[in-house]
Amino acid sequence: MAINTLMQRLIRRIERFRGIDAIARPASGSVSAATRPAPVKNLLSGSWLGHQLHPILTDLPIGAWGAATALDLTAGEEGAAAARRLVGMGLVASAPTALAGASDWAETSGKDRRVGLVHGLMNAGVSVLQTGSWIARRRGHRGLGVALSLVAVGIAGVSAYLGGHLSYVRGVGVNHTAFQGRAGEWTDVAAESEIAEGELRRVLVDDVPVLLTRRRGSLRAISAVCSHAGGPLDEGTLDEEGCVTCPWHGSRFRLSDGAVERGPASVPQPRWEARVESGRVLLRSA
Ligand code: FES
Repeated sequence: MAINTLMQRLIRRIERFRGIDAIARPASGSVSAATRPAPVKNLLSGSWLGHQLHPILTDLPIGAWGAATALDLTAGEEGAAAARRLVGMGLVASAPTALAGASDWAETSGKDRRVGLVHGLMNAGVSVLQTGSWIARRRGHRGLGVALSLVAVGIAGVSAYLGGHLSYVRGVGVNHTAFQGRAGEWTDVAAESEIAEGELRRVLVDDVPVLLTRRRGSLRAISAVCSHAGGPLDEGTLDEEGCVTCPWHGSRFRLSDGAVERGPASVPQPRWEARVESGRVLLRSA
């Protein structure tokens, strides 16, 4: 059977296996509670970086463990010390990688949460095997250490496929405003008198949903589709500091420029310029 068919079958089975929810639901609730404080969520989501943190960090353990395996297979005893150090470096890097991944996973649901849990458990198994490998190598049992690392790398490959499926097939963690159109021309969207102070209103510029509101007398507009996972910002809440909070996972964006004040979003909302002409509100992409 071709590898893609095999993997697609595996993924479909995981997605349909509702029994996983008995573990996934309470576990994601606990992670969600632990990562609720804004500094924690911002740190782990990559809101401070303008990019999701987890996919960046994954390069570190995968790179270290991949290099260790390359030495194991090609350098013999000469590469043993370096390979052991690389296994250790991968273990150190795997901790923050897992934390960032768990934080992202806590915001998923349904099929994505099931696949994400299996992905995380497989990675935990990889870390256990690599820990065993490092200990075996330290005690002079290089053959055992190499064998454990080879099994770990094989499992990590399957787990990486699941992670890739979540990102590239299911769109978990991608910027949900990436494919929105832009409007270079001013477009009439509403009568000025209809836009009340503090009211979050959804208007359309061509087919692009835009959140339009008035704050301290000035019109403000950012894209209405949350960059994190597509939540409707016009159904969120506007606070005293001029930020809107998404109703789905609590990302908070500044209305003045779309900047992320709180994750899990890591990408700012596209901003729109507003002006009034003959009593009508006109918008265009900023
Ligand atoms: S959709 Fe997740 S925070 Fe908006």
